[in-house]
Amino acid sequence: MAERYVIALDQGTTSSRAVLIDRTGAMVDCVQRTFEQIYPQPGWVEHNPHEILLSQLGALTELINRHGLSRENVAAIGIDNQRETTIVWDPATGEPIANAIVWQCRRTAQMVDELCGSEDVRRMVRQKTGLLPDAYFSASKIKWLLDNVEGARERAEAGELLFGTVDTWLVWVLTGGLVHATDRTNASRTMLYDIHECRWDPELLELFGVPTEMLPEVRPSASPFGETSYPGIPAGIPICGVAGDQQAALFGQCCFEAGQAKSTYGTGCFLLMHTGATAATSRNNLVTTIVASPPSVSEVEYAFEGSVFVAGALIQWLRDELHLIRSVQETEFLAKSVPDTGGVYIVPAFTGLGAPWWQPDARGLICGLTRGTTPAHIARAALEALAYQTCDLARAMEYDAGVALKTLNVDGGASQNDFLMQFQADVLQTRIRRPQNIETTSLGAAYLAGLASGFWSGTDELRSLRSTDDVFGPNMDQARADELLAGWRTAVGRAL
Ligand code: G3P
Repeated sequence: MAERYVIALDQGTTSSRAVLIDRTGAMVDCVQRTFEQIYPQPGWVEHNPHEILLSQLGALTELINRHGLSRENVAAIGIDNQRETTIVWDPATGEPIANAIVWQCRRTAQMVDELCGSEDVRRMVRQKTGLLPDAYFSASKIKWLLDNVEGARERAEAGELLFGTVDTWLVWVLTGGLVHATDRTNASRTMLYDIHECRWDPELLELFGVPTEMLPEVRPSASPFGETSYPGIPAGIPICGVAGDQQAALFGQCCFEAGQAKSTYGTGCFLLMHTGATAATSRNNLVTTIVASPPSVSEVEYAFEGSVFVAGALIQWLRDELHLIRSVQETEFLAKSVPDTGGVYIVPAFTGLGAPWWQPDARGLICGLTRGTTPAHIARAALEALAYQTCDLARAMEYDAGVALKTLNVDGGASQNDFLMQFQADVLQTRIRRPQNIETTSLGAAYLAGLASGFWSGTDELRSLRSTDDVFGPNMDQARADELLAGWRTAVGRAL
């Protein structure tokens, strides 16, 4: 049996990983490389596109060499990526015209306010893209590059420059410059793509001054994106899975149906709830986004998405700035060492508050302090803050989607914290399901490529691969959960 593996390329904000996955869905090996975060000015974030390549292709080459892989034993490659990050390059030379503008970069905030100032424009953007006009998405980042790099606009209009999110850049390089394409999930994060009509929208292109010539072709996530043709990598491996990392994680969690949801607890937190073929509109500042679907599904499917801006970053702050803890893991022991927070709440609004509050100017606070407050109370309050924020998002989603969440699937680093997961189940009064393999992002990219290449037969087989999960059920009575949440809402009210 020749083809034994699928490779996932997981190109994240701070590192690139190449992951080898076998037919049972087990992660056989993983090579990870970090790369530089570039902060040219306060609020600006860039990556060097060559460094992205170096780290990602370096990780891939090392994985291939370690296992002596050839074309014969790799069925397919799947890619998942940090979304929205914007690269513009010259296809004749392969040279980017500038550093990538990263999704976190706020340099175009004022531009977006000006372009989308009127209520009519905001409504139009919202209706077509499912997004709230914001510098987070790619549209204004492309405009900034075309307006600020000398000669770029003329070259783009002459068809001499290409735009891509990171998936597109990787596919273009890996296929030897043959394929300029993205998938629908990534396209849906550009703020230029009509998620209902599934096409680049002329009115939005006009608004952001983006020439059509530079845009990639948009394909379904589980479909052919060409074959490898790059020195040092076996030629002819099909690339047939591409998705933004959060959508890949949803897929990796086997959330294939409406009402299923996942929360990834990383530096921030991303919560997505599948809404099936309905692109519902939120009344709570959630965005509507396209999800990755298996090849057997021909309709376009959607999700609500909301993010918590500060999650794991709060724990890092306790460690690195307050020096209250020595390691992130210590929070679990500390939190369990006290029966409650003694009335302490932390609202980690370091960079404003996201959905459902949507207050960019809100700032963080710690309240309820007494002379008896100890580091253990603060550590516990920090973990609880992660759960409260997720709870607010989940409730908003349930309300907007009109369905009750039966189970929340979790992944990401902080999901390993048992105290946090139990408290999450308690305040949400919902079952929390944590897979053995919390690397669901890579798994999702592998699943997409594996389905499209016939490596796996379908979603039933993928579900059967899932090993026994850890399940956390609510242990707290509803009245106590309501009381705690009321305290949290009061604290948030003070931060707004
Ligand atoms: O929208 C941004 C998101 O895709 C970044 O994810 O995991 O690279 O921080 P991550």
